[in-house]
Amino acid sequence: MAALLEVDGLTKAFGGLVAVSNMSLAVSPGEVLGLIGPNGSGKTTLLNLIAGTLRCDAGTIRIDGEDVTRLPNHLRVRRRINRTFQLVRMPPNLPAIVGVMAGVMYGADPKPYKEAEYEAAGILGELNLLLKAGHRLDQLTYIEQKRVELARALATKPRVLLLDEWLSGLSPGELEGGMSVVWSLAAQGLAVILVEHVMTAVRALCSRVVVMNAGLRIAEGPADKVLRDAEVIRAYLGDDDAGGS
Ligand SMILES: Nc1ncnc2c1ncn2[C@@H]1O[C@H](COP(=O)(O)OP(=O)(O)OP(=O)(O)O)[C@@H](O)[C@H]1O
Ligand SMILES: [Mg+2]
Repeated sequence: MAALLEVDGLTKAFGGLVAVSNMSLAVSPGEVLGLIGPNGSGKTTLLNLIAGTLRCDAGTIRIDGEDVTRLPNHLRVRRRINRTFQLVRMPPNLPAIVGVMAGVMYGADPKPYKEAEYEAAGILGELNLLLKAGHRLDQLTYIEQKRVELARALATKPRVLLLDEWLSGLSPGELEGGMSVVWSLAAQGLAVILVEHVMTAVRALCSRVVVMNAGLRIAEGPADKVLRDAEVIRAYLGDDDAGGS
């Protein structure tokens, strides 16, 4: 299937540090692309560039063939691309449903208040959070907060969804539930980029994996093959562990 998101040659420097260097990737509807790499390798920065939270220094981003490289974040959301944040950013005293309603009201298919409330409740219900809809964010557990964060992103009706360590910090039982959620989003036709350190999830969910190190793409391919790659092992573990594999 033709790619829905195409990223070509993206580059971003912070002063002298090139956090993302000439990164290219493509994701198709229904696909979960894994984006992995050691801490500080540039994964979140790349998601920020794709979502429009940061401006790139060079490169292009296309959604469904349209060049969105120069569009600000909120207009990319209208082009049906959105992301979850690695650290949940909604105000802690906000009722969960209000954050999700904001997603509906400012998303790709905006609705007025009452309809937004109805729709937000439906999305929270699909994520098993309906009973927590009126609770403040800071009254929810970590996993519930992460689900609200996903609900907020889904409320904007993305076709391209960027998940930044959405599965991290979960117990084995919670991880299984979280993986099912990602799986079902892809089955509904979303193109997903999964930034993740939890390799069980990467192996189970991702048809392809891109590996970053120090801003560069160092490998791409099926998860099992990429995770056996000597350069990838070296990037994660250092030279001593990479020999001979
Ligand atoms: N706003 C910023 N200003 C300056 N440097 C930054 C900024 N954001 C990120 N960096 C630096 O860019 C590099 C890449 O960071 P990034 O957060 O993208 O890594 P990451 O792969 O997401 O890491 P992690 O797995 O720990 O989340 C790091 O060296 C980081 O310190
Ligand atoms: Mg990160």
